[in-house]
Amino acid sequence: MNAEKHTVLLVDDEPHVLAALRRLLRKEGWKLLLAGSGQEGLRLLAANPVDLVVSDMRMPHMDGAAFLRQVRRQYPQVTRLVLTGYAEREAVKRAFEQAGIHEMIAKPWDDEELKGILRGFLQQQERQEHEARGLHALLSHLGPLPVLPQVYFEVRDLLEADGDPSVEDIARAILREPAMAAKILQVANSTFFGQRRQVENVERAVTVLGLALVHGLVLAHSVFQVLEIQQVEGFSHEALWRHSLACGLLARQIAQRLSWDQEQQEAATLAGLLHDLGKLVLASAIPVRYARVIRRARQGKRSFAAAEREVLGVTHAAVGGHLAEWWNLPVPLAEAIRWHCHPAASPLACLTHLADVLVHRLGISDIPCALPAAPSPGLLAALGMEALELDSLTADLKERVARNEFSSF
Ligand SMILES: [Fe+2]
Repeated sequence: MNAEKHTVLLVDDEPHVLAALRRLLRKEGWKLLLAGSGQEGLRLLAANPVDLVVSDMRMPHMDGAAFLRQVRRQYPQVTRLVLTGYAEREAVKRAFEQAGIHEMIAKPWDDEELKGILRGFLQQQERQEHEARGLHALLSHLGPLPVLPQVYFEVRDLLEADGDPSVEDIARAILREPAMAAKILQVANSTFFGQRRQVENVERAVTVLGLALVHGLVLAHSVFQVLEIQQVEGFSHEALWRHSLACGLLARQIAQRLSWDQEQQEAATLAGLLHDLGKLVLASAIPVRYARVIRRARQGKRSFAAAEREVLGVTHAAVGGHLAEWWNLPVPLAEAIRWHCHPAASPLACLTHLADVLVHRLGISDIPCALPAAPSPGLLAALGMEALELDSLTADLKERVARNEFSSF
């Protein structure tokens, strides 16, 4: 590991803790920045490129959770670790998700263990940066990676806040983006949701769709919006939206059948909605070369992923996984996006692959020649699903397609 280039920011309101950390880490050869408060930490972040932050949890004015939330928002690539006393563990667990904390280190820490954890994260970051450089070279036509719109963060913060989220507040946030509001209304009024009466306002649409699905739609729509593309032969933005939406809804249905809990169902919906995010990125960044991938796959001699590798050296799944990580989306979601073509260890990736295959087979394709490989017995086993169950799911789906439930998104 090239230690020289790493910068670590240490934030604690107690000077003796900062001094102890500095003594401990001095020999590692990293550049150390010290801050006595969250505010000072943010000032240092604005002035220096930082790789990793270690923050105390309990600090006056801005506590560790608020500080790290801010870091996540403004500097998503920075690894975020928290130092915490035993009594604060519960609060830290809650903050974990919101601030996307990578690791919690107990106080008093073990010197060797702490150094090992920091080294491990910096090494991992280096590996990711290496992979990212390859992808960035490919995506240089896109300029800086796109940032998600503010409305996504507003809705996410409302949903993640303590207590029941208010449907009214969420609707108000969505309404600030008229295109997003129109999309949410369109989905709520689609035959899939079978509403007898026209859903006329966003508040009602949020109730019809449910908060979890609204979260997914707001994220997916934001992604589709920031990656608006030009003409690419053989590629259609609308077809990909329809395919993604059908995949998200089907993934949720499969998760329900498999009795996954509420949180897992939401993850499945998001993974279905976003699994092809990389195709959007590629079609938007390198339209001419992506059209060539589509042409080559159409000739039918190789799989879509193989055509991508031949022409670009990388697949849409890897690109999508990378961008999902860069946006700090939950790790299992980024992994499911990255592995949805070749699902291995993660059940979420397996489920996403299954939904993708079924949706393609029913003709709801983004690119018709991009049909993924049939689900293997191993994949069904990983999901704890019988072949018979798959047949009944497919039959049920065919009926829904016959009722045009997927055609009005
Ligand atoms: Fe797909």
